[in-house]
Amino acid sequence: MAIGILTSGGDCAGMNPAIKQFVDHCFMKNVQPYLIYDGLEGLIDGDIKQADHKDVAGIIHLGGTILRSSRSKRFFQFEYRKQAFENLQKHGIDKLVILGGDGSFRALNQFYKDFGVQFVGIPSTIDNDIFGTDYCLGVDTALNIIRGATDAVRDTSASFKRGCVIETMGRDCGYLALVSAITCGAEVCIIPELEYNLDSLGLKLRSQIEHGRLYVVCVVAEGTKKTNDLVQWLENDVGIETRATTLGHIQRGGNPTVFDRLMATEFATFAVDKLIQNDNNEGLVVVYKDGQFEFVSIEHVNSQKYTISPNLLQMAQGMVH
Ligand code: F6P
Repeated sequence: MAIGILTSGGDCAGMNPAIKQFVDHCFMKNVQPYLIYDGLEGLIDGDIKQADHKDVAGIIHLGGTILRSSRSKRFFQFEYRKQAFENLQKHGIDKLVILGGDGSFRALNQFYKDFGVQFVGIPSTIDNDIFGTDYCLGVDTALNIIRGATDAVRDTSASFKRGCVIETMGRDCGYLALVSAITCGAEVCIIPELEYNLDSLGLKLRSQIEHGRLYVVCVVAEGTKKTNDLVQWLENDVGIETRATTLGHIQRGGNPTVFDRLMATEFATFAVDKLIQNDNNEGLVVVYKDGQFEFVSIEHVNSQKYTISPNLLQMAQGMVH
């Protein structure tokens, strides 16, 4: 048996430890691992290599993905999927492991329907927005990067008696901003999932400033598109000089945390073992749910939109009005 691995869509810390474990575990199970470079684009172009231990030596601590990634438009077209299938046939690759988000899983599910290539998806995105799993690879590292950046911006905000608006990534999901606001002690948290009231927040902050508050930390999710409005509000209504920091792609890189390395190792081990069992399952995703690893169908992952746990949302009530 031969299994290929690829990384697709937005990269995240934890991909490299997963790639390493994939290769090591395949060898342990007498399966030939293959590395597919540049995501689905590399599958189409045949950028595929038989893996060796030395390909994955010394990568466990590296952010990003040594396999590189892409967001492929060509893979939507049958002719390119056919070319990709022929490339797999040339190498005798029967099955695939893909690290990515639900868009990548949907693409491989179509590939399965076209050519019957089984695969297991490993949820990998800093956005933590995949339905069916409590955790996506890369989230812990991204949160720690946001924590470090927010702590640093708070230092300088306090020195200058300023407000700061920290914009996090997350696409349409407010998970990164919410957890960061809670764990960084923000005064304001603006995310798509929560209604907020700037009038009552403003009243509270003005009173706190009168009583000696030196700075205001406001964490905002990129999906709200409210970063500039919040700066204006803090300056004009709350009356505190304010700077905005858009963290951007810094959140996607960096050395994977211990938690992401461990999750990567477990996700990859479960994925390979499932494919070796050869029980003719179609596309599956290995998820982490209620403290357990399990497998769900692509249909399940696509059946609903991810929602943040109500308990976590409840924690932010003091930061929205
Ligand atoms: O999905 C991961 C993510 O980093 C989002 O948080 C962000 O909106 C998007 O990707 C950025 O994409 P790109 O790297 O293509 O600019």
